[in-house]
Amino acid sequence: MVGGDGRFYNREAIQVILRMAAANGFGKALVGQGGILSTPAASCVIRKYGTFGGLILSASHNPGGPDGDFGIKYNIGNGGPAPEKITDAIFAASRALTSYRIADGTDVALDQLGVCTLGQMRVEVIDPVADYADLMESLFDFAAIRALIGSGFRLCFDAMHAVTGPYAKEILERRLGAPAGAVINGVPLPDFGNGHPDPNLTYADQLVAIMYHADKSAAPDFGAASDGDGDRNMILGRHFFVNPSDSLAVIADNATLAPGYAKGLAGIARSMPTSAAADRVAHKLGVPCYETPTGWKFFGNLMDAGKVTLCGEESFGTGSSHVREKDGLWAVLFWLNILAKRRLSVEEIVHRHWSEFGRNVYSRHDYEALPSAVAAELMAHVTGQFAALPGRSFGHYRVKFCDDFSYTDPIDGSLATGQGLRIGFEDGSRIVFRLSGTGTEGATVRIYLEAFEADPARHRMDAQDALGELIGIADELSQLKQRTGRDKPTVIT
Ligand code: NI
Repeated sequence: MVGGDGRFYNREAIQVILRMAAANGFGKALVGQGGILSTPAASCVIRKYGTFGGLILSASHNPGGPDGDFGIKYNIGNGGPAPEKITDAIFAASRALTSYRIADGTDVALDQLGVCTLGQMRVEVIDPVADYADLMESLFDFAAIRALIGSGFRLCFDAMHAVTGPYAKEILERRLGAPAGAVINGVPLPDFGNGHPDPNLTYADQLVAIMYHADKSAAPDFGAASDGDGDRNMILGRHFFVNPSDSLAVIADNATLAPGYAKGLAGIARSMPTSAAADRVAHKLGVPCYETPTGWKFFGNLMDAGKVTLCGEESFGTGSSHVREKDGLWAVLFWLNILAKRRLSVEEIVHRHWSEFGRNVYSRHDYEALPSAVAAELMAHVTGQFAALPGRSFGHYRVKFCDDFSYTDPIDGSLATGQGLRIGFEDGSRIVFRLSGTGTEGATVRIYLEAFEADPARHRMDAQDALGELIGIADELSQLKQRTGRDKPTVIT
């Protein structure tokens, strides 16, 4: 299986991959029409047709174009990203290459559905949307969503000129009856229309302007966006942002409203920096909640073993065992299914959730492009205080535990260490420090702040205000301002 997100060089790379596959003895290759396959659709196709594996051409939410990014991802037969032992072996082989095989022949007509041959290999160009749309229709109550949309409910989906455009048009406009134009920026472009296809409040600014229209009644009821390769999602209500950690918790609590999940959940998994809102739902449901390192492969192992049904991460990724990737449109459809059944606004659903479970007020502060040495010393300074922290009080926050998060995979026994510094407080609040990217542009320190708030009277507070005390504690523990000379984060999510 081969396909990509449509970015610059997608089609050229596919021709090379097909020639190399033919020359190396593959019997058959599936290609998305026009070279298009979103990451979750590729995972769906690998699983549905039982292919040996698949190549996905994408650089996720990074800009495309002649000067933009390009990436090749290998997924294995379960539909998920290749585990490290395979990618390490591929990298080692690449260092020892002395030659490679490639077939001659004319280019495959990527826009023509059907079968052709390349050397001894059959190439089948498949509809990139149909298999995925059928899978979605098997999971969600399309009749209920159609009825919701028919009742005057208005939605806006921003495909950001990336891969989800054709999927969203087929599913939202054609199968679910949303009016033409409900999908904006729906044509995939090699340079994403010069945009940055990352579904957050900064880059999805056109959608944000629509959803936060000055005249609130003019804003649609529901807004959503996905990223370059279709695996991330952002959910908005009218003048309302759903934090990805809350989104996972709301989906989990309402999962049985969707036919594909009517039998309930086997368990939930979240990445360590994701808020513990989902843990509270798992507790209520009496199912396990796994806290894993950042990276989708950890979820894949749990899903293959049947231990979890839903998973999510704070960085706008949500998914389930229907594929082995996070899935942007799936999350959008899950929300529409919930809204169709409950007939409340997005904001009301989230507020009712907080009333029942309490609110894990959450924010991520990124300090980008720090000198690598400064970032490393900051992390070391935090770790250096760990022995003295448990039991210490900061205002009304009392430290319960602190550690450098490590994880032993319950399925394959592999150990992941150095996954981030956790400082947990007695009331369930947390501060997490993580260091990433120590490349030429310096290092990024991410601080994840989470304050548990049980009192409904305080649930409407602005997150940054509610987190003010924890932000001060994070600075005290890390000497962040003094060490970096920064008085505010580069990015607040
Ligand atoms: Ni992505």
